[in-house]
Parts: sequence; C-alpha cells; structure tokens
Amino acid sequence: MARSTVTRVLGIETSCDETAASVVDGGSVIVSSVVSSQVDLHARYGGVVPELAGRAHVELLTPVLAEALALAGSDPSGSGIDAIAVTNGPGLIGSLLVGVAEAKALALAWRVPLVGVNHLEAHLFASLLEQPDLGWPLAVLLVSGGHTLLIEVSEPGRYRLLGGTIDDAAGEAFDKVARFLGLGYPGGPAIDEIAEEGDPHAFSFPRSLPGGGYDFSFSGLKTSVVNTVRKHPDSSTADVAASFRLAVVDVLVARARAAAADIGAKALCLAGGVAANALLRRRIEEACAEDGIGAFLPSRALCTDNAAMVAAAGWWRLHHGEASPLTLGADPNLRLVSTG
Ligand code: KG4
Ligand code: ZN
Repeated sequence: MARSTVTRVLGIETSCDETAASVVDGGSVIVSSVVSSQVDLHARYGGVVPELAGRAHVELLTPVLAEALALAGSDPSGSGIDAIAVTNGPGLIGSLLVGVAEAKALALAWRVPLVGVNHLEAHLFASLLEQPDLGWPLAVLLVSGGHTLLIEVSEPGRYRLLGGTIDDAAGEAFDKVARFLGLGYPGGPAIDEIAEEGDPHAFSFPRSLPGGGYDFSFSGLKTSVVNTVRKHPDSSTADVAASFRLAVVDVLVARARAAAADIGAKALCLAGGVAANALLRRRIEEACAEDGIGAFLPSRALCTDNAAMVAAAGWWRLHHGEASPLTLGADPNLRLVSTG
C-alpha cells in the first residue's frame, strides 16, 4: 500500500502499566480510545512490578483491542484499518514485547503496514491531537513516571533534546514521596489532591538546578522530605505534600520558561503524566501569559499513557515513509530521533 493512502491507524500501547488501543483517522481524529489501567494490580507494591505488568498485558490486550475496533466500527478482521502503530520503546521490555508481538501478528494477518513508535514521540503528538496549529518552535516539558525532558520541537518530527533529569524522573519523585507519606500509588494524583489543602510554605525544601543548562535533579529533594518528616513526625501531611509539590513545580517551571525564552519558542507545551498536576498547569499558564507565548496543556486523558497518541505519531511516521519491517523488535532504551 502506498504510504499516502494510509488514513485509519490502529495504535497499540503497552510500554508500562496501561494497556491501550485506539483508532485514529488522518493522524488527528480520535475514533476510539480504550485504556485499561493496571493501577490496582500494582498499588499494593507501591510501584509497577515489571513481571506482573507483562503478564497483565497478555491478558488485557486482546479484549482492549477488540473494544477499540468495535467502537470504531471495525471488527477482528481489521476492516477499514490501513496500518498499525505500536510503541516499541522506551519502556519495560516484557511489556513492550507483548504489544509489538500482537501488532506484528495483526499486520501480517491484515496485510497492512506496521510502524514502531517511540513512546516519548507519542507523548509529543498527544498535544498535536488536540491543537494541530501550535506555533513553531515549541518547547515541550515531558514529565512522566520514567522521564523528565525538555525538548525543542522545531516542527513536527524534528526534535532537539535540551535537558533532562540526572537522577529521578519527576513522576518517580512524586511516587516515592507519596509512598513514604503513606499516600498510596500512583503518588502524583494523591499528592496533588492533598496538597490543595496544605500550606506550600510550611517547609522550605531545596530547589536543585544542576549545571548551567536545562537539567533537573529530584533525589536531593526527596531525601530532604524524608529527613524533615523524620525530624518532625507530627507535621501535617498536607503541608509536607504542598511544600514538596511547590518545590518540584518551581524547578520545572523555571527550567521550562528559560528554555522557551532561549529558543524563541512560540509556545510552551506540557506532556506526560505529571502534566496532569494542577499546580504545574496553573503555573505554566501564568508564566506563559507573562512571557507572551502560548501555553498548551493537553487534557488529562491525553497526558497519561494512551494509544491515540501512538496512532497519531505512527500516522506521521508512515506519511514520511517510515514503515517498520515485520522483524521489528522492542528497545527499552529507545532514543528520540528526528524524522527523515
Ligand atoms: O506518562 P505516564 O502515564 O506514564 C509513564 O510513561 O510514566 O505518567 C505516570 C506518572 C506517575 O509517576 C504519576 O504519579 C504521575 O505521572 N502523575 C502525576 C499526576 N498524575 C499522574 N504527578 C503529579 N501530579 C499529578 N496530578
Ligand atoms: Zn508515558
């Protein structure tokens, strides 16, 4: 099939603890999007257990796919589906392999093109799904459980990494601090909620800005929270959560704002699960309004892992002649590279 005829793409996402499938038309219209979260499965361990995640994907992927196809008016024969896009990295290897194997089998059976998609690029495309006319260049702050990156997008498909975390990812810091505070898993939403009730200035936690560039560091902050709570065991959890959240957000906003100014960004865009954070969203909007640039905050459903963003990124890659062979593998450390 010539690449220009690809319209309707089935996306598959199994890189971490969400099993997701989606059908997207023309790279931008979400026809169906089904996400099955494994949060309950991993909650009692306080984090994602890779072995359990892989096994759960094996059980969940086929019903999730069947539902996404049915909602899109298709069926298990793949009628009307022109191509299949699948996340093939970065992520948990056992989880990635489940999605990649299923995608390859379907591409072979349905005789449609296959394209492997980088999970980070998919998060960037989540924004374009909702707002295709974002101005270029864009500064994107991609903050999730596994990644904290600042990326310059000079146009769709063209990326430059500006900085990243040198230790914990922002979401990982939220999850670890929440576990320590006994707030359960996933920690980000739990801290975000209780922080609304607390005093963000009750504790002054460190804001680490390593080096002169755009890197981040959150492990010192996490240790400082632990030491403070051990020293003041009666302190209010809401105050600790609010002070911690403010410290993380201060650092994220300072770096993102400086990067946006330096590259002359037309807009600053959030991506990844931590982009659902209420304070981060408010502060980015305020900063962008002050700096006279656009702020783009994807809806919460598109911030966290989903397959619509995978289908959108796959459509883009296919339209740039980048179909993958049926020997496609999975790479837990896949890097973000520009198209073409
Ligand atoms: O992008 P995502 O769904 O999965 C990864 O690829 O990691 O992000 C999940 C991460 C978790 O660490 C979770 O705690 C964090 O995003 N998160 C939040 C919020 N909602 C999710 N962090 C802070 N505030 C939130 N409201
Ligand atoms: Zn993600």
